[in-house]
Amino acid sequence: MLCLGIESSCDETAVALVEDGRLVDQVLASQIDIHALFGGIVPELASREHYRHLGALYDTLAARQGLNAGDLDVVAAARGPGLLGCLLVGMSFAKALSLASGASFLGVNHLHAHLLAAGLEQDLPFPMLGLLVSGGHTNLYLVESPSRMRQLGRTIDDAAGEAFDKVAKILGLPYPGGRLIDELGVLGRADPRLFPRPYLNNPTLDFSFSGLKTAVATWLDQHPELREDLKLLKAAEPQSASGAICGLCASFTSAVVDVLRIKTERALEAYPQVNSLVVAGGVAANSALRKSLADLMKQRKGRLVLPSLSLCTDNAAMIAHAAWLLAGEGLSHPLSIEAVPRGRVIPDDFILSRIQSTI
Ligand code: KG4
Ligand code: ZN
Repeated sequence: MLCLGIESSCDETAVALVEDGRLVDQVLASQIDIHALFGGIVPELASREHYRHLGALYDTLAARQGLNAGDLDVVAAARGPGLLGCLLVGMSFAKALSLASGASFLGVNHLHAHLLAAGLEQDLPFPMLGLLVSGGHTNLYLVESPSRMRQLGRTIDDAAGEAFDKVAKILGLPYPGGRLIDELGVLGRADPRLFPRPYLNNPTLDFSFSGLKTAVATWLDQHPELREDLKLLKAAEPQSASGAICGLCASFTSAVVDVLRIKTERALEAYPQVNSLVVAGGVAANSALRKSLADLMKQRKGRLVLPSLSLCTDNAAMIAHAAWLLAGEGLSHPLSIEAVPRGRVIPDDFILSRIQSTI
């Protein structure tokens, strides 16, 4: 089964082709440089950039693979959550292509696609606990199958990636700052007393990270000498950072990682029938988090599923792959479904697809 996936929910425009669960090819245009000028994503600019790039990306992929639209079995786009204008570009393109080619259409939940992305590289051991840590979300899920995921917890304010990006901004580092803070942290030593481990004294599986950026800002105010160190730091050369800055990054990272690990462990305790953990989203690339969760699952003699770094950040391969899994369950969507912006629940409104009904 040949599935085309389109990702345009945020600041990456991407198109990928997956055949029978295997990635054939993908193309991507990143807008990071444009939004970096503003220190964060500008939604109107983002949708215009998607509109500018998507057609050309599809043409490139089609030419490279000798693809005719009529070869496609499924055309899928990220349906949400995301920026509405951005989602609409990808969804409209996918709907038009489905209509023109006769392929089935699927609006894929971007977050579910992140959680399933590792399936491109290894078998997914359902049921799994899913930890999704990205720039917009920090959620825990019970992942029973590609189409059955139950959200167990979420952030009540900032997402983990957002916390990284906001701390980077406080430090005057470029956007998005998660990777650089990770690299600086690796060079430093974490002091566990420096920052709190927020929102652990409650029975929920929810998270709260907004206090951490305030704690970092306060600490920086109390240590004005670090401002001089920060002036000397070159983003492209982490080695140019002072020991104090690397220590601060390591301490902040370990506060975030400890909270993620503790709540993940509590979720595993609450669902003893599950002993596999899949971690997904941009922050899943964080080296300290990868190590901490690897230790946790080793201790519990469970399985840890970690996508490779290129599959952690936004990409279209995960959309095409999720579509392949869903279509394999016989699911598709009518062209009448709508894009769902961040903050709204994505309805469970699949229909039995033409593909399955013709098998
Ligand atoms: O999943 P993603 O590519 O986009 C969405 O938010 O959907 O995640 C991007 C986030 C950004 O906040 C970025 O700073 C963070 O992932 N990130 C990292 C690392 N690499 C990316 N955070 C911590 N450590 C990293 N190595
Ligand atoms: Zn994402």
